[in-house]
Amino acid sequence: MSKQIETQQNFNCSDNEPFSSVLARHVSRRDIMRGGLSLAALGMLGGIGGLNLANAQESGTGKTPLALAFESLRGSRTDAVVVPEGYTAQVLIPWGTPLEDQAPAWHREQEMTAEAQARSVGMHHDGMHAFPLSEQHASRDFLLALNNEYIDQDALWAPRGGPTNPDSGQRPADEVRTEINAHGVTIVRVRKQAEGGWSHVVGDAHNRRFTSATPMDLAGPVAGSEYVRTRYSPYGTRTRGTNNNCANGFTPWGTYLTCEENWPEVFVNRGELNIDDARLGLPTERGRYGWETAAGVDGERDDEFARFDVTPHGEGPRDDYRNETRTFGYIVEIDPYNGQSRAVKRTALGRFRHEGCWPGKLVAGEPVVFYSGHDARNEYIYKFVSDAKWDPADANRPGEAYDRLALGAKYMDQGTLYVARFDADGGGEWLALEPDTRVADGRTLAAALSLAEGDRAGVIVHTCDAADLLGATPMDRPEWGTVDPSSGEVYMTLTNNSQRTAADTEPTFTNEGDGVDAAGVGYATAPTNAANPRAANETGQVIRWRERGDDATRFDWEVFVFGAAADDADNLSGLTERNQFASPDGLWYDDRGDGQGILWIETDNGYDGVAEQTNDQVLAVVPGALSHASGQASVVGAGNQQQLKRFAVGPNDCEVTGIFATPDKTALFINIQHPGNWPADADAATQDATHVTSGSVRPRAATVVIQKADGGQIGV
Ligand code: FEO
Ligand code: CA
Ligand code: CA
Repeated sequence: MSKQIETQQNFNCSDNEPFSSVLARHVSRRDIMRGGLSLAALGMLGGIGGLNLANAQESGTGKTPLALAFESLRGSRTDAVVVPEGYTAQVLIPWGTPLEDQAPAWHREQEMTAEAQARSVGMHHDGMHAFPLSEQHASRDFLLALNNEYIDQDALWAPRGGPTNPDSGQRPADEVRTEINAHGVTIVRVRKQAEGGWSHVVGDAHNRRFTSATPMDLAGPVAGSEYVRTRYSPYGTRTRGTNNNCANGFTPWGTYLTCEENWPEVFVNRGELNIDDARLGLPTERGRYGWETAAGVDGERDDEFARFDVTPHGEGPRDDYRNETRTFGYIVEIDPYNGQSRAVKRTALGRFRHEGCWPGKLVAGEPVVFYSGHDARNEYIYKFVSDAKWDPADANRPGEAYDRLALGAKYMDQGTLYVARFDADGGGEWLALEPDTRVADGRTLAAALSLAEGDRAGVIVHTCDAADLLGATPMDRPEWGTVDPSSGEVYMTLTNNSQRTAADTEPTFTNEGDGVDAAGVGYATAPTNAANPRAANETGQVIRWRERGDDATRFDWEVFVFGAAADDADNLSGLTERNQFASPDGLWYDDRGDGQGILWIETDNGYDGVAEQTNDQVLAVVPGALSHASGQASVVGAGNQQQLKRFAVGPNDCEVTGIFATPDKTALFINIQHPGNWPADADAATQDATHVTSGSVRPRAATVVIQKADGGQIGV
């Protein structure tokens, strides 16, 4: 999602209490044993002798960690992408790039239409993943699946001087259809050319768009239930569209997972809200783009606009769209290899503002695990554990045609959804959102939610209220996760939280409630806790946890790195001008080196303390190189700053998001979302991403491919 509108006051905890006592609260004995943060903190408190952290090179596992072989970039604030010396950066598939021969060629004055947009790359690139068509050519010819999270109406309607009636009055049907088609997912085949540049394959049979209007299936506990019966789907088995697809995931059987994040905003309910919609925060006056205002125009097809107004007005659910919102908020599975297949919403993984969805370490004969976060202030982290045990014979066979969605049904439609409680002692518990789970007062979860006993669909529809009742820990806006493929450790960004209050404050609640146990009520503000230890947290942190092998419901955690400006009083990880960052968002653990690879961190920053020095960025860190003592994982601290480096910086006003590398690690793919005045050439589909724009251009989100000029592996 774009910059959050928040008060960017410069947080200074020393105004409230001595910094040493703040640190003392953050630094547990266990942290000290793990080094990093606590050593940095102790260093700031007066030093600790006898340890030479700067030279720590040996991993606790005895393996040799990768070494970052580039100079950490200075900040940049230009209309260009900046990469280290010896690297190139190329723009690929910017918004509006034709996917088919029938689509009009892009040009700077193009008046986008619904038909053209449905055949062209969508807007505001976000999460993405690569799907090889063969093992042999996996690093040079693959299907790119890409989220198009939301839209920049000014750029979309630039030839008209902007959108029509964006804030009040009726929106024109042609603009609404076009905007709907600019959202969703793009599947496009891309190839590396002989000279090293990349291009997309126009007209490839795999190329397609999923938009906010594309028919999709519902699967899992909610499918076919009374909760999702609508005028469009009287039996509750289908819906139309996926919306505000932010981060992504993928499955080991070769499908793409796209994740519905800020979907409530496109709907409106002017009547009585479903309690679950109230919990999630649904607009009550006008949808974000006013799509519902086009309802009733001549030529409206199958309630294509009416469905965004979910105010009950018929006799029952089959007469209107009161349940339309309950067909959103899910993980959506797409088979990129089969151009005829439908997308499927896997409801078993919960209903909330899903940022993304990441598979845990795969083990034959063990369940398949997915982690997901709810990106909103003081919301939760979840995991799904499949009933089915992983069979390596189900692993993806690149390019082959077979029913991958049947494997999705096998592993994602039956299982247990858990929510996380992070305890102050560094342990944590996964709490099962089962209808018969007991809540604090002894009732079943179903009873506490006023559902029928055993109503699994109801628990999923009310995921957030269910998590409240189990005592989940409110987090600082969970964004991306990633899993170390060797150790299975999970990293997740907690991007920032303007609604985090001091430790000694009482929480406050949404919808005028007096406690989260009430239906429709969540946390508005919440005091600091061990995993989210900074009040008015503007700069965020990356948390890490590992499952306890002997107990599927217990885990251990620590904060891996805290964002901050170098001279902030609460620069708890000792960041410097060369690696200071705020609002970590995108995250990817590079699978090189048998667990000694690179953790890549992307930012979506709105904090002035860092924004004054640099635009949003990509950082690289080798967790395995941070260890200070044999056998102990470590975290970023003042003594190991040379292991955390700024690798790339985006153009003005953008966020950097979406990330993966080719299997041979010679090309790193990232996305530049909502740039202000970039890329430099307003017409070209492929161009040098590092060219600084002169004058003004119609901005276009785009994928950027970063490679070494000598063809070597990136980062090392
Ligand atoms: Fe779309 Fe949470 O970022
Ligand atoms: Ca994000
Ligand atoms: Ca609640």
